[in-house]
Amino acid sequence: MGKQHYQITVNGEARDVLAEPRELLIHTLREQLSITGPHIGCETSHCGACTVDIDGRSVKSCTVFIAQAAGREITTVEGLGTPDAMHPLQEAFREHHGLQCGYCTPGMITRAYRLLQENPSPTEEEVRFGIAGNLCRCTGYQNIVKAILAAAAEMNAAKEAAE
Ligand code: FES
Ligand code: FES
Repeated sequence: MGKQHYQITVNGEARDVLAEPRELLIHTLREQLSITGPHIGCETSHCGACTVDIDGRSVKSCTVFIAQAAGREITTVEGLGTPDAMHPLQEAFREHHGLQCGYCTPGMITRAYRLLQENPSPTEEEVRFGIAGNLCRCTGYQNIVKAILAAAAEMNAAKEAAE
């Protein structure tokens, strides 16, 4: 089958892409739209470096064809915050050294974002279980878990202060 037009919304912006239906979403994001936060680690759904949020669920974008993503809302790490207005998770990863080489970080933060949406006050065990699909070859996970727990506390305190 030849190339077709597909509409997707990425980080709040409607985008039109021309692609073969079997093109993987991670390739569309990185190569067509220059959204390079999501990384390619394995392309076999093992590492989680390519994790994005699709319609409120964490998804490994190397497992999704562009034809399946059509019409959906996609959020990547770029959509969570900016260098001047970072998401609490981004702040916490910086503050608690939740990264070393940084390769897993965009996927890890995007996954953690959904985890905290679903469970705003997770235990350490729940955080570890929640990020089980995201591999990090550098950190031993200690500081990643610490960062996610710190971000959860920060977000809950901000929510309480706003009430
Ligand atoms: S690149 Fe998608 S899970 Fe590894
Ligand atoms: S920080 Fe290097 S893979 Fe996670």
